[in-house]
Amino acid sequence: MLRFLTAGESHGKALTAIVEGFPANLIIKPEYLNFHLKRRQAGYGRGLRMQIETDTAEILSGIRFQKTLGSPISLLIKNKDWENWAEKMSPEHKGNKIEKITVPRPGHADLVGISKYNFDDIRNSIERSSARETAARVATGTIARRLLEEFDVSIGSFVESIGGIYPKENFSNNLFDNNLPKNFKGWDLSEKSDKSDVRVLDKEHEEKIISKIKQAKKKGDTLGGTFYAVATGVPVGLGSFVHYDTKLDADIAQAIMSINAVKAVAIGSGFETAEKFGSESHDEIILDKESLVRRTNRAGGIEGGISTGMPVIVRGAMKPIATLMSPIESVDLKTMKAVDARRERSDFVAVPACAVIAESMLAWSIAKYIMLKFGGDSIEETLENFRNYNGKLFKRIKKNFIA
Ligand SMILES: Cc1cc2nc3c(=O)[nH]c(=O)nc-3n(C[C@H](O)[C@H](O)[C@H](O)COP(=O)(O)O)c2cc1C
Repeated sequence: MLRFLTAGESHGKALTAIVEGFPANLIIKPEYLNFHLKRRQAGYGRGLRMQIETDTAEILSGIRFQKTLGSPISLLIKNKDWENWAEKMSPEHKGNKIEKITVPRPGHADLVGISKYNFDDIRNSIERSSARETAARVATGTIARRLLEEFDVSIGSFVESIGGIYPKENFSNNLFDNNLPKNFKGWDLSEKSDKSDVRVLDKEHEEKIISKIKQAKKKGDTLGGTFYAVATGVPVGLGSFVHYDTKLDADIAQAIMSINAVKAVAIGSGFETAEKFGSESHDEIILDKESLVRRTNRAGGIEGGISTGMPVIVRGAMKPIATLMSPIESVDLKTMKAVDARRERSDFVAVPACAVIAESMLAWSIAKYIMLKFGGDSIEETLENFRNYNGKLFKRIKKNFIA
């Protein structure tokens, strides 16, 4: 079973992650991890911090000569800004001279954090609830992505909208209609969207969004948006309908919803199908040479909690960033008087980064179910199990049903 834990505060010394369950002999190169970490930091509308830090993952264990050992992999991502925070975030000192934060930001974890953990300083809530933690998740998700490549599973993403600005022609329709270029791979989407400052698929759309972000910045305001993450090449049969906690769609929804500020997740054409007839919502089954495929993919590649073999399509919605330069109302907990919410160094928009994080979370979820289904202690064994299953799939169906 794949699992991971992350540790680290936003302005602490470093983030760390322990990742377990990957088979031995999987090639992992540090530059591959760092490439995806860098993608998380890009995007128009990010705050100053992204310019200070270029995240790099140091591999501490579990990998030798660029190959996994089957043992726990531990990663370290140093905070480059640590020197400026050493006193404020010291684990050793008592911090008597450090000023406490007393004004919670609506929409962030400030007030709930101090209420739950009995803190007298909002900094204690801010630090771990911050999306800085997602750097560790991108590093772990990138190991999962590497595993998936062995199975020809490819993951990519794009931003669909920011601040309610949608493209003239929405690419998601092509996904649901299964109207995709020949040999289309999930990563094709990221290759294209990574070229855009806001990770959208067309230039005119990008310009409109950037102008809306500029407007928001000018007002001291922030924006959210929607994004898609897509996995192609996912084999038939990952996940199960036998229990609520074995369903692939449920696991993916949890994984995406766990990303900071994500407030809605849909699999396939999710919310739209709720307004349509059944005949317009489901995907006809057709025979294509030696396999059973779907004419369309409105289900987003999952039926009954099990992957259908069609691309897995996930849509997420991110709320606007909570830290506002023109703040809304809050209460100073020291005086119990109404005040403006606190300003912090912050992003204005982080939807492009959120989509990159969603790629990692989607990779993690699918890799987890690949390992559950195919098992194995070395990548060679896992692949052998996979080929044995996948290569005989259609033959088995025919054998079972044709008299
Ligand atoms: C990539 C990314 C960057 C973020 N940057 C900020 C930020 O700079 N300022 C902020 O207030 N919130 C930011 N957020 C959102 C907060 O982390 C999030 O709203 C907070 O943790 C509360 O959790 P919730 O919104 O899920 O309830 C960011 C989220 C993501 C995914």
